[in-house]
Amino acid sequence: MSARPSPPRAAALLGAPLLGAVLLALGCEVDLERMLEQRKAEAYEASSAFADGMAMRTPPAGTVPALAPTGPEELLSGRSAAGYVTALPLLVSAELLERGQDRYQIFCRPCHGAQGDGETAVARSMLLRRPLSLLDARARALPAGAVYRAISEGYGLMPSYAAQLAVSDRWAVVAYVQALALSQSLRLAELPEELRREAEPWLR
Ligand code: HEC
Repeated sequence: MSARPSPPRAAALLGAPLLGAVLLALGCEVDLERMLEQRKAEAYEASSAFADGMAMRTPPAGTVPALAPTGPEELLSGRSAAGYVTALPLLVSAELLERGQDRYQIFCRPCHGAQGDGETAVARSMLLRRPLSLLDARARALPAGAVYRAISEGYGLMPSYAAQLAVSDRWAVVAYVQALALSQSLRLAELPEELRREAEPWLR
């Protein structure tokens, strides 16, 4: 690796001071403080603009935040009236599994391991309760909705990943976790002929 910054990075580093210098040379005054200084209502401040004397407003009834996920209950919560959903509530495709693998490697692998067996340096340092192996019988018996819930809401010592993973990404990870568990428990002889021939050279 070279110590010199790559061209895009160098441009980004030089960009801001350069822009400032150009604006100064042109005689423009750059006042970046004005947005902070302008008249405005702060959170929890009193305001005479509204009858209740408060600046903060409650959104009108029925308002949905622009970025709030929408969809059927099963998709958003992983649960239906009958309990955890057992089948994935979206189409499972190769793309979805690839996305799931990608997100799993970033957000789950540090604790649950690349193979899902929970053997990682981070896991070994967690003294109170270690991340479980996603391959063992208890984890494999979890319905898809329970894995989704663990990701969305957290579980015991495991934090929620709702802020990092969109609804579809969480289901992609669920699909990948299921595929991972399957891949670690299949016997070579159980694979279809074509896949077996493809796998054999890797297993020598
Ligand atoms: C910081 C470490 C850590 C990360 C990262 C992490 N987990 Fe966990 N996970 C744990 C621990 C610890 C437990 C056991 C919690 C307990 O028993 O209190 C657990 C439990 C679980 C369970 C079991 C839930 C149940 O109902 O028994 C599942 C499924 C799971 N994790 C999946 C995931 C997935 C998928 C990801 C990635 C989105 C992930 N975890 C990321 C530490 C982690």
